[in-house]
Amino acid sequence: MFVHRLRRSGVINVVLVCLVIFGVAHISNIFENVTKTIVSIEDPAISVLDGGVLGASEPTSTADGSSTFVGSNIENGHCILPNVIERSMSAGDVDRITLNLHVSYDRIDSGLLKQIDNWDGPISLAVVFPTKIEQTSMEVKCVAKMLKIFQNNHTGTNYKLSAHFLLQKHAGQCTGIDFPEVFETDLEKATCKFPRLPKTPNQKVEQMAAYAVNDARNLARNMSSTNYILIADMDHFFSKNFEAKMLGAAKKHLTKDPKIALVYRIFEVAEDVPAFPTNKKELQSLIRENKAQEFHKFYGAHNIPKLQEWFKARDYGNASTDIQFIRQYKWLHWEPQFVSVSTIPYHDTNFLYPLRDNTVLRWEMCRAGYKFAIMHDVFMYHPGIKTKVENKAIDKVRRKVVRAGHRALRLFNERMTNEYPTTDKACPKFTHF
Ligand SMILES: *[C@@H]1O[C@H](CO)[C@@H](O)[C@H](O)[C@H]1NC(C)=O
Ligand SMILES: *[C@@H]1O[C@H](CO)[C@@H](O)[C@H](O)[C@H]1NC(C)=O
Ligand SMILES: *[C@@H]1O[C@H](CO)[C@@H](O)[C@H](O)[C@H]1NC(C)=O
Repeated sequence: MFVHRLRRSGVINVVLVCLVIFGVAHISNIFENVTKTIVSIEDPAISVLDGGVLGASEPTSTADGSSTFVGSNIENGHCILPNVIERSMSAGDVDRITLNLHVSYDRIDSGLLKQIDNWDGPISLAVVFPTKIEQTSMEVKCVAKMLKIFQNNHTGTNYKLSAHFLLQKHAGQCTGIDFPEVFETDLEKATCKFPRLPKTPNQKVEQMAAYAVNDARNLARNMSSTNYILIADMDHFFSKNFEAKMLGAAKKHLTKDPKIALVYRIFEVAEDVPAFPTNKKELQSLIRENKAQEFHKFYGAHNIPKLQEWFKARDYGNASTDIQFIRQYKWLHWEPQFVSVSTIPYHDTNFLYPLRDNTVLRWEMCRAGYKFAIMHDVFMYHPGIKTKVENKAIDKVRRKVVRAGHRALRLFNERMTNEYPTTDKACPKFTHF
């Protein structure tokens, strides 16, 4: 297994790679043990992997939106350990949708298996370790072992999941590591104890502010090998036959015009329902009983019009769905979640959680000429309904990254002017968060 070293990309030498994922709505779930009611937020970012990680090259991103990596302003390099576990599903099967996920190392447990069972296609997971945790640390070894036990215990993991480690701002040598084989199959032995977890509220805020969210999305994405991708967050679950239905639509539309994002609606569902919804009929009943609602309803970043018409429309069957309508990208806070071709731009790693780190990708896609097509039938749900509670921890994180955020915004606008000079009028002005 090899390791790639990511380093600071200087002005000249930006090399990067990036892989990614589109984040779905809020990344908040990664930190749920740290902060209970997170309310919503989005993020953007760029990361730089230099020196060859996934192959380093000049930072290029083309005006057609097919940039493969992003330059980064991260001070120190990251160290990447790719394919710590690797899916057994054929890598040759490129006509699938890879689910790209990212998670903090201290948030992984067997709860992940439910999410794996819920997704039919390949999954690429980036696991992020904070600064100071070296590749030889017990944390890294333990998470690797845990994933291998999942692989031994759970056929879905074995078949679908590939996991990659991102060691942030790695100070020591990043040489690659051969993890020992693991023969254990007992999930109960898979639990890790982490002695160095942040303890005080301030340390937790520090950890969140330092989480390399967009490097992680970009890593997961770069390691996925399918023609189609979906970039989501932990705790995002999908309606039945989601992948098959979206693949049907992707083959119909994206082979003709790859610059369409197939947008799915997203919801929150109360955790105490007898069964989570598998189709829109069941979802509609839950909404009528006040057991489900649009995702982050009170913030509006995910609301999509024509919901009643969507419920009324006939279902397209198990193997396809189609476009309900194309929605113009007119409002800079809209963070649509979608399936797309794998060649969309990477997440801008200058943007940090929680300041539009995920939305920034939609901004760039707008400038690159992508259309956002709202799809019939399919949806994502998040178990648990969020209420509008102020979250002090997230506010603190926001305050910590706001300076970097303003800089990111300025650089982003400069880059948009250079790379997509003609689409200025077609998109909102990206003037604030
Ligand atoms: C991964 O990154 C490398 C280096 O930038 C790039 O050449 C490659 O095309 C990327 N792969 C994907 C699937 O984006
Ligand atoms: C998986 O782990 C559970 C919990 O430890 C255990 O009961 C079960 O037997 C294991 N299954 C397999 C196939 O190893
Ligand atoms: C869809 O799948 C279900 C089982 O998942 C099956 O009963 C049904 O016949 C399928 N419908 C079509 C149109 O293929």
